[in-house]
Amino acid sequence: MAKRIALFNHKGGVSKTTTTFHIGWMLASKGHRVVLVDADPQCNLTGLVLGFKGENEFENFYQMESDRNIRAGLAPAFESQPRAVEAVECLPVNGCEGLFLLPGHIRLSEYEVTLGIAQELSGSIQTLQNLPGSLSYLLDITAEKHSADVMLVDMNPSLSSINQNLLMTSDFFIVPTSPDYFSVMAVESLSTVIPRWHAWSSRAKSNPILKSATYPYPDKNPKFIGTIIQRYRPRKGSPTEGFQKWIDMINERIAKQLAPTLEPLNMLLPKERYKQVPELLPYFCLAQIADFNTLIAKSQDYQTPVFALTTAQLGHVGTVLAEDQRKRREFYEVFEDLVERVTMLTNDASSN
Ligand SMILES: Nc1ncnc2c1ncn2[C@@H]1O[C@H](COP(=O)(O)OP(=O)(O)O)[C@@H](O)[C@H]1O
Ligand SMILES: [Mg+2]
Repeated sequence: MAKRIALFNHKGGVSKTTTTFHIGWMLASKGHRVVLVDADPQCNLTGLVLGFKGENEFENFYQMESDRNIRAGLAPAFESQPRAVEAVECLPVNGCEGLFLLPGHIRLSEYEVTLGIAQELSGSIQTLQNLPGSLSYLLDITAEKHSADVMLVDMNPSLSSINQNLLMTSDFFIVPTSPDYFSVMAVESLSTVIPRWHAWSSRAKSNPILKSATYPYPDKNPKFIGTIIQRYRPRKGSPTEGFQKWIDMINERIAKQLAPTLEPLNMLLPKERYKQVPELLPYFCLAQIADFNTLIAKSQDYQTPVFALTTAQLGHVGTVLAEDQRKRREFYEVFEDLVERVTMLTNDASSN
């Protein structure tokens, strides 16, 4: 069974989508089979992977490939159709063997309210009892269809019922952040929200009606594997003082608030697992990643991570090219190290 890793922070603009794409690509280039899931109705990941610039391209895509998105996969359950939820045929990601995309849908948000009601009522209305488990079921069978060993879920920036469901039914989660005040606040509010979601999920797991549904609510309790702090501006390779201040505050909030909140909920791995990763504790920071600067535009133009851009795609000569190549190498090493850490922490499902 594929391990499912959610990238979650209800704050937008903290590089969730960018990181999902970059980690997925690096994992696949290291020999994993990876499915990226775009669970955000804003569909930024789908746009990034397919190089879509405008609405027309999405509209054409949904017309031509009407079954190949997350909403279409869920439709049998959410629209009470007399057919079963089936695995979605994902899109192979151009230029990266073993990497696939389960595209998002702009109208996935239409299922938000129904799912919210289904989760509140936890099975007391028969027609809704299949919904809480359907999302996880769809992701599992889709991963299986592609023989994936990792599934990365890019989520939308909110505390919606879809996010509640996706987070609580994943195996692991990463919290992407950016070094600013809003991310510090976001970590604080996660420390309040996650216990509520955990309580809900515990009730759902023990609810006999949800257990015996066509798509049973799964018996999961996701483990926090760490944060990523991304988009600081470096000076001589390190964050400037201004950024370092926010990095320190995020680290402190994680160590003093989020981790101690998660521990009694059994949402942390055993301590020894974290200790296997050099310098991970006490802050659970998987990586600090600098601003990509001019490389981000190239990455988007070519639908390729910054570390995988070819020399031709970098498109410069002389010293500018040499500088770009140096940065590309640096980002390659940062993501290689990050993926190695993620792999170490998520290795072996018995950690659940
Ligand atoms: N390390 C980075 N350097 C430069 N720009 C970045 C970096 N990470 C993300 N971005 C840009 O910041 C914006 C927000 O990132 P995104 O991944 O879409 O965040 P989220 O999914 O959390 O909303 C995007 O325009 C993206 O291209
Ligand atoms: Mg996003």
